[in-house]
Amino acid sequence: MSFLKHHKKIETNATLLLVLSLGVVTVGGIVEIAPLFYLENTIEKVEGMRPYTPLELAGRNIYVREGCYLCHSQMIRPLRDEVERYGHYSLAVESIYDHPFQWGSKRTGPDLARVGARYSDEWHVDHMTDPRSVVPESIMPTYGFLKETKVKPESIQAVLVANRRTGVPYTDEMIEMAASDLEVQVDPDGDWEDMVARYPKAQVRNFDGQDSLTEMDALIAYLQMLGTLVDFSTFQPEASR
Ligand code: HEC
Repeated sequence: MSFLKHHKKIETNATLLLVLSLGVVTVGGIVEIAPLFYLENTIEKVEGMRPYTPLELAGRNIYVREGCYLCHSQMIRPLRDEVERYGHYSLAVESIYDHPFQWGSKRTGPDLARVGARYSDEWHVDHMTDPRSVVPESIMPTYGFLKETKVKPESIQAVLVANRRTGVPYTDEMIEMAASDLEVQVDPDGDWEDMVARYPKAQVRNFDGQDSLTEMDALIAYLQMLGTLVDFSTFQPEASR
């Protein structure tokens, strides 16, 4: 039982115990974390993910600015109740172009990771303007002013450039066309084909139903895209392939 004798030495010497505990935690940490830097499939590559359109990106900035993440998460956990309520659990790749990510840590309202296409644009306009008009018991604040605040298309180019610096693969062409791509997404009568070729599945509509290009358009374009890029009817997790 000489082994136990040594153990007593460790347990009665606080400094030694601390040093050895740190050693054990360090080794354990390295074993858990280091492989993630070398594994190729830490983030599964999945078809469909693309950088945000300029309009969606503008909407995302409004989402961040207004602090929507304080009440809404964008991270469906792989638990049965969440998957039944919100849809397929979130994949790491679905946040790959998010700087900063919007996983959130509080759900005063529901998770929004797959809210895209769940409601009509009109519903969103009504809900943002007066949440109580569509969900009587809602405690969500009103954001009607977004219908009055205009989006300046020329300011989006710098946002794309900033995102490219953080690793989002915006091409030179996307950056050059940023302002016009932003405008054409709310103009179904315009020449939006090139924009949709650059950003597959981009939805082209007058989102807020008004003539001018407002922050409401941008925010709804962003919400209607959430969770719609990956086609889960054909998606198979890497482990089961
Ligand atoms: C103070 C907390 C709070 C904030 C801040 C907040 N929300 Fe909400 N939100 C809620 C609550 C509660 C609900 C559920 C009731 C309802 O539908 O209004 C909700 C519901 C929603 C829904 C409907 C989701 C669904 O699946 O039914 C959307 C979309 C939404 N919020 C978007 C936003 C956006 C965009 C912002 C930021 C501009 C925002 N919310 C800010 C509390 C909040």
